[in-house]
Amino acid sequence: MLAAKAKEMKDRGEDVLSLTVGEPDWQTYPKACEAGIQAIRDGKTKYTASQGVPALRKAIAQQMKTLTGQDYNPANEVAVTSGAKFVVFSAFISLLDSKEEVIIPAPFWASYSEMVDLAGGVPNIVKTKFENGLKITPAELEKAINPKTKIFLLTSPSNPTGVEYSAEDLKGLADVLRKHPRVAIVSDDIYNQLSFSERGISPHLLQVAPDLRDRVICVNGASKAYSMTGWRMGWAAGEKSIIHAMVSYQSQTMGAPSSIAQEATIAGILQCDADLAETRKVLKERCAHAYEAFSSIPGMKIAKPDGAFYLWIDVSVILKKLNLKTAKDFSQMLLEKQKVVLVPGDDFGDDQCIRISFVVDRKTVDGAVARIKTAIG
Ligand SMILES: Cc1ncc(COP(=O)(O)O)c(C=O)c1O
Repeated sequence: MLAAKAKEMKDRGEDVLSLTVGEPDWQTYPKACEAGIQAIRDGKTKYTASQGVPALRKAIAQQMKTLTGQDYNPANEVAVTSGAKFVVFSAFISLLDSKEEVIIPAPFWASYSEMVDLAGGVPNIVKTKFENGLKITPAELEKAINPKTKIFLLTSPSNPTGVEYSAEDLKGLADVLRKHPRVAIVSDDIYNQLSFSERGISPHLLQVAPDLRDRVICVNGASKAYSMTGWRMGWAAGEKSIIHAMVSYQSQTMGAPSSIAQEATIAGILQCDADLAETRKVLKERCAHAYEAFSSIPGMKIAKPDGAFYLWIDVSVILKKLNLKTAKDFSQMLLEKQKVVLVPGDDFGDDQCIRISFVVDRKTVDGAVARIKTAIG
């Protein structure tokens, strides 16, 4: 609603500063674009296998080795779909029986709980704490698991916090998961190549607990790392019976992913490492700037991100000062009085927080910070 209102204001020519976007503000890398164009010229414009073309599955399997240390068979352990969002849903629908639970650490990407509902399951939301770096602890995970638990959903780095789980964190969670062999793990790795660490890649559960391989479904895609949100490319890697179930579901719903986008993604994965390295550098600089700028606003408590492109900010002190109840009220006020639009945390499972996205230029960040300071007084 806020985004729609902001758009209306922008369309009227008003000077709105938006920190809401969930996608990179740069173009898809040239080599991926060229491969897409070439695919059209070569007539690769027809249905492909529902599971995706073999060359892309092979490229994904190669990348999975780097990201997780695991070998996946491109023939039956990798499936390509239209966007990672569909992969997550396809995993839920394939794994969940009626009323089975999915443990979702909060704050969480808003779509997860809706997707669990749609798949007939029940979200079991576990609120994480700032003092634990907004990560679920092994004790919290253990406490949340019950006879109805079917899936543990892990997102690292996270949307909306940008926080990533360290190898140590993951080892702790793996120790708990080992005790509960019924529980599958959906690992949403969509931001894991946008880590600010030396390696540029976030630690993965399977690197520290390869024994869990057969019950981990890895989700990834081209949207964020390759700036290909509009191409709609996502994929899953996992044990073959799970992948088989997901592909069966896909083939009767999505059909097959775009043939053109698949060719572009092959080039993205195999030829765009240098672009990706530059992306990480730019994001890291932008993050440092946005973190510093927002930290200068009195009353904002910010989780320092390890990757992705979001800041998650506790504004409860400010809400109190302004006599406002929720972040939604705060966001509404900022839009009306200062023409700044950001995302209230209500939809991510915490109404005392906001999410800002720093895939914008410095001028926008600095302008927004100045206006927010004026609004707070
Ligand atoms: C955590 C997370 N997972 C998955 C997705 C979906 O990505 P895709 O564009 O591949 O559907 C998003 C997009 O915002 C996301 O933030």
